[in-house]
Amino acid sequence: MAEQPHTIEALFEENRTFPPSADFTSSAIVSSPTVYDEAGADPEGFWERQAERLVWRRRWDQVLDWSGAPFAKWFVGGRLNVTESCLDRHLGDHPDRVAYYWEGEPGDHRVLTYADLHAEVCRLANALAELGVEKGDRVAIYMGMVPELPAAMLACARLGAAHSVVFGGFSAESLADRINDAQAKVLVTCDGSWRAGSVVPLKAMADDALAHTPSITSVLVVRRTGNDVTMVDGRDHWYHDRVDHQHADRPAVECDSEDLLYLLYTSGTTAKPKGIVHTTGGYLTGVSATHRMVFDLHEDQDVYWCTADVGWVTGHSYIVYGPLANGATSVLYEGAPQFPEKDRFWDICERYGVTILYTAPTTIRTFMKWGDQFPGAHDLSALRVIGTVGEPINPEAWMWYRDVIGGGDCPVVDTWWQTETGSQMLAPLPGVTTTKPGSATVPLPGIFADVVDENGGSVPLGGGGYLVLTRPWPSMLRGIYGDDQRFIDTYWRRFSKPEEGRWVYFAGDGAKRDADGYYWLLGRVDDVMNVSGHRISTLEVESALVDNTAVAEAAVVGRLDAQTGQAIAAFVTLKGDRQGDDALIHELREHVALKIGKIARPASIVFTDELPKTRSGKIMRRLLQDISEQRQLGDVTTLANAAVVEEIAERARAARVKAD
Ligand code: WTA
Repeated sequence: MAEQPHTIEALFEENRTFPPSADFTSSAIVSSPTVYDEAGADPEGFWERQAERLVWRRRWDQVLDWSGAPFAKWFVGGRLNVTESCLDRHLGDHPDRVAYYWEGEPGDHRVLTYADLHAEVCRLANALAELGVEKGDRVAIYMGMVPELPAAMLACARLGAAHSVVFGGFSAESLADRINDAQAKVLVTCDGSWRAGSVVPLKAMADDALAHTPSITSVLVVRRTGNDVTMVDGRDHWYHDRVDHQHADRPAVECDSEDLLYLLYTSGTTAKPKGIVHTTGGYLTGVSATHRMVFDLHEDQDVYWCTADVGWVTGHSYIVYGPLANGATSVLYEGAPQFPEKDRFWDICERYGVTILYTAPTTIRTFMKWGDQFPGAHDLSALRVIGTVGEPINPEAWMWYRDVIGGGDCPVVDTWWQTETGSQMLAPLPGVTTTKPGSATVPLPGIFADVVDENGGSVPLGGGGYLVLTRPWPSMLRGIYGDDQRFIDTYWRRFSKPEEGRWVYFAGDGAKRDADGYYWLLGRVDDVMNVSGHRISTLEVESALVDNTAVAEAAVVGRLDAQTGQAIAAFVTLKGDRQGDDALIHELREHVALKIGKIARPASIVFTDELPKTRSGKIMRRLLQDISEQRQLGDVTTLANAAVVEEIAERARAARVKAD
């Protein structure tokens, strides 16, 4: 194991996101505290009231069973199918309300009303059932951003089967690993997907994965890009052949509140991604309640757009389940923000009259760099709430977002949460909570957070430490698929005191709280990098590099990057006499793309004869990070090989210039 790369002290030293505090007043921070007080006094009652807004076939007997902590059960005994809340119930009052305004990257359009989406989901559920999908099965989904993607997720849910969506930017090998871990029966994919004017050949990549996935018996392929694909007889089926003729109705399978709804794989501190388990009743309660509160949703008036990819948790919770449960009208956009021009997002906002926009700090910083003329060319006056998620937002980007995109008068909701939390945990409520640029403000009603020190003691206001959640919440992960021990060790062991009945969830983030009790996120405190809001484990990239026959050893760190938050910096020693050159850098980057996906390609690779190590042989990642971020190096005398440091620093400077 490598040492922990980020100590909390080091994060403070770097002062990553903390703005000058003098700019902000400290009084009347939460101007209408009633909802916080109510939920704080009776969190279970609060969540029960949120759950009552969903469609249940049978009411629960108990709101929360925490007796098996840290394995939670919410709405115990409750029975439901999430698609009845997301689809069927809207057919009565407003079947013609638009669920999705879909826009393809080439400029094609589709409008799906709630009635259309319901019909598509039922047809697809019928087709999946014909292919043998039953309650309790897992279905893998590897698609671009087409309407069939949310339809496929909901069709699984309709049948009581779990979906496992794999982001279309992941490699064949990553897809195969995830399919095998979940033992998925069916794969739903596309021939390809449009990205920045080119086709991402999803089916061809899926074919490579399918050579190693014995559990898959059938593949459904949506025709989107029209590129040539190979169809294996008896296994591969065109979506339009299997789905279009089906009945547009299918009864929903009744599920238990705690039945598996989906798996979503995310990077942790080992090379093997973990399948985060989300279940039915509590998850839908959490995502629908927060989507309504945090965006101040008026479902009959708003046009809501979350720019995330459905392949990440933000898409699951805030493109699919939350908005649909609330009967919202959403925009779904297939492609890249710079296609065909750098104003595509603002063009979309103007044309659809988007009122609520939810995007990522990395995207905001990219737009800042491109210049004000792109949003300036469009009428964005319909916007009224604008949100961010995925990484800490620096105050400059926050101000730009508020002023240039929001016209100065839209509340900015910076939302902190994770794949594991299922729904937003820290965020302001528009019109209720005073905001501060760069702070995710305070825990949402019904959520209990704290900042603790190494020993789990609460740090007084003004200090920093580890961000924890101190009470269970409905949309919390229920485990890591097939690995209860890892679940306990990763999230609960560090700060819980089971003998006192105290269970504390460790998020993996550092945070500071100011004198008003506002939270300022400081980044990960483990071996997880955040590159453009994508979670990537340093160990995953290291093992992909070492997998190349030229490489002897590799160390990877995330270095600060003005655009992407962090950029991946790799340090590599080669086998034998092999010399590193540009061709090998290219080869190694492509190798990582092949093993994990393009998103994990190192921005810079430095070849070195040795990696800096402690006398006990541990790689000094922290030092490599200092080198990558061009900080003054501290005491290196404890190193076994101190002499190597200067040389690496020199090469890293050169590599950085190249990568930038
Ligand atoms: C980071 C994305 C600061 C954090 C929903 C967390 C944030 C990880 C914020 C989860 C934010 C997310 N401010 N940091 N508003 N939102 N993060 O699982 O490090 O892809 O632990 O979920 O992103 O990433 P994940």
